[in-house]
Amino acid sequence: MSDISLKPISPARDFDDVLDLTERARDYVVLEVGHPANDAYVRDFFEACPPGKTPDSLIHFAVMRGQEMAGIVGIAAGYEQPDDWWIGLMLLDPAYRGRGIGHTVIKLIRRLARNEGIAMLKLSVLDANPRGESFWRREGFVMHRAAPATPESDGHDRVVLRYQIREDD
Ligand SMILES: CC(C)(COP(=O)(O)OP(=O)(O)OC[C@H]1O[C@@H](n2cnc3c(N)ncnc32)[C@H](O)[C@@H]1OP(=O)(O)O)[C@@H](O)C(=O)NCCC(=O)NCCS
Repeated sequence: MSDISLKPISPARDFDDVLDLTERARDYVVLEVGHPANDAYVRDFFEACPPGKTPDSLIHFAVMRGQEMAGIVGIAAGYEQPDDWWIGLMLLDPAYRGRGIGHTVIKLIRRLARNEGIAMLKLSVLDANPRGESFWRREGFVMHRAAPATPESDGHDRVVLRYQIREDD
C-alpha cells in the first residue's frame, strides 16, 4: 500500500488532530481506559514514559493515507533493552481497519527500526483485545511474557509480545 506513510508528529503542532483521531477510535480507547478520549489521554500518548525512560526517548507518528490521518503510533526507544523499540500504542480509525494498513505500518516500522540498529520490537496487548493479539501474531510477534494486572496497575491483564528484527526487514 504505497499511499501509506508515517509522519512524525508533535504535541505543539498535532494535538488537536490526535485528539480527533482518538475520538474516532473511541471503541479501543474505552476498552483501554474505560472512557472516551480527552486531553489527558492525548497528553499521555505524547508524554507518558515507560519506567526509567525520559520523554526524549519517545517517537510519535501519524499514519497518513494521502493527506488523511488514519492512525497514530507511539514508540519508546531503548525500552526494555537499549536496542529495543517498545510500541506503546498503535491505533487506527475504525474506518481504516481491516484493509491491510496495519500490515503496511508494521513493515514501515520494521524497516525504520532496522535502519536505527534496533534488534527487537516489543509491545503489550490487553487480554481483552484478542483481535489485536491475533494481528500481532500474524505479523510474526511471539510471546515474551505474561503481564498480569497488579494492585498498582490499571486492572488489565496483558501479554508482552516480541519480534526479532531481521536482515531483510
Ligand atoms: C490492530 C490494528 C492496528 C490492525 O490494523 P489493521 O489495518 O486493522 O490490520 P490489517 O488489516 O493489516 O489486518 C487485519 C487484522 O487486524 C486485526 N483487526 C482488524 N480489525 C480490528 C479491530 N477492530 N480491533 C483489533 N484488531 C483488529 C485482526 O487480527 C484482523 O485480522 P482478521 O481480519 O483475520 O480478523 C487496528 O485494527 C487497530 O487500530 N485496532 C484497534 C486498536 C488496537 O487494537 N491496537 C493494538 C493495541 S496492542
